[in-house]
Amino acid sequence: MGRKLLRIALLGCGTVGGGVYEFVRDRQDMVISYVLSRRPRPELSCKVVSDFSVILSDPEVDVVVEAIGGMDPAYEYVRSALEAGKHVITANKLLIAAHYRELVELADKHHVTLRCSAAVGGGIPWLANLERTLEQEPITRISGIMNGTTNYILDRMHCSDAAFEEALLEAQHLGYAEADPSSDLNGGDIRRKLVISANIAFGCVLREEDIAVFGIESLRAEDIQACKKLGRVCKMIASARNLDGCVAAYIEPAFMNSQLHEAAVPLNFNLISLTGEHIGKQSFYGQGAGRYPTAYNVLQDCVDVRNGLQGFYTNKLEDRPVDNSSVVRPYYVRTERVDEWLQKRVVKILDCGVILKPVSVTEMHAWAKEHPCFFASLRD
Ligand SMILES: NC(=O)c1ccc[n+]([C@@H]2O[C@H](COP(=O)([O-])OP(=O)(O)OC[C@H]3O[C@@H](n4cnc5c(N)ncnc54)[C@H](OP(=O)(O)O)[C@@H]3O)[C@@H](O)[C@H]2O)c1
Repeated sequence: MGRKLLRIALLGCGTVGGGVYEFVRDRQDMVISYVLSRRPRPELSCKVVSDFSVILSDPEVDVVVEAIGGMDPAYEYVRSALEAGKHVITANKLLIAAHYRELVELADKHHVTLRCSAAVGGGIPWLANLERTLEQEPITRISGIMNGTTNYILDRMHCSDAAFEEALLEAQHLGYAEADPSSDLNGGDIRRKLVISANIAFGCVLREEDIAVFGIESLRAEDIQACKKLGRVCKMIASARNLDGCVAAYIEPAFMNSQLHEAAVPLNFNLISLTGEHIGKQSFYGQGAGRYPTAYNVLQDCVDVRNGLQGFYTNKLEDRPVDNSSVVRPYYVRTERVDEWLQKRVVKILDCGVILKPVSVTEMHAWAKEHPCFFASLRD
């Protein structure tokens, strides 16, 4: 028996929404019934409305695809769509990270599907594979490169000895970095992706602000030179581990052993891994952003809804604290503010910077908050 045609209301038709519009146009099993736009869009061959209540009150609309971004008005639209019994698909990590529990509970209460596969990893089928793995066994750890902008900058600095500012300008020129790149550089973008991933992987709800984060804003070419001299590759790594009663979750630059897969990730690509007891480490590699890769993941969510997939990726919502005190690593540190804490832990002095004996992530991040510096963990 043929399945019913899926009727979609698309909110926002920009980079991602435009890609979704094009993909759906070529399909027979779904249709864009409305595009919500605040300006006329005569080039679109569907109903274009500026009033969201038109979409909300149309019982024919099965699914609302939110591709506006930001908090307002996306949050109100998503909430009211769920309350009206419509399935919701969004690429909006800001929204899902900030209102995780509320939106998952709302979808559950109204027996509708909520999906956000494109919110983490762009076009990589990451969240859906967390869900699939959880059908079989618990996930103990997730980690990886979740931001293409920072990876591009680090890759350029490694491969062509570019200065930080030069690599950033290149990333902006290629459209990999926003005009205001601060949430990429300070790790805020990765933190949203990590909180969504960890919540799903471990069946918990973490507070985004509890996740320790250190970005690459203070990185200089000399740090990359020091990293290369150590035979390592600098990457921005997000990590989360499921521990007894808590979760260790943090984001920091890392000087990776050059044999590790993460060390070989070029340009603006992402590589995200999960670890399960029996499957070990599995990694997912691909484009973490961009019109078509991201639209692909949104469309995949539409296909899943059409195929009758229910709910969110998990319905477990246990509040868990973040505690990084048991994760201990050696660190590279460059600072002009050497104090007693640092001096006591130095095991090696480099041309630029020092290597510390293993210290906890909690201690390292707390020290760096009070001292202008660049640091990176050493990972093997
Ligand atoms: N771009 C990527 O590679 C990527 C990757 C992963 C996730 N995402 C996520 O996808 C979402 C969309 O990003 P994007 O890059 O597609 O953004 P975008 O290119 O700026 O598109 C946003 C669209 O929303 C419309 N819009 C903005 N405010 C609106 C409002 N109040 N009412 C109705 N429409 C409104 C804009 O219309 P106007 O044309 O009138 O401004 C535009 O069409 C974000 O949550 C982002 O984080 C993007």
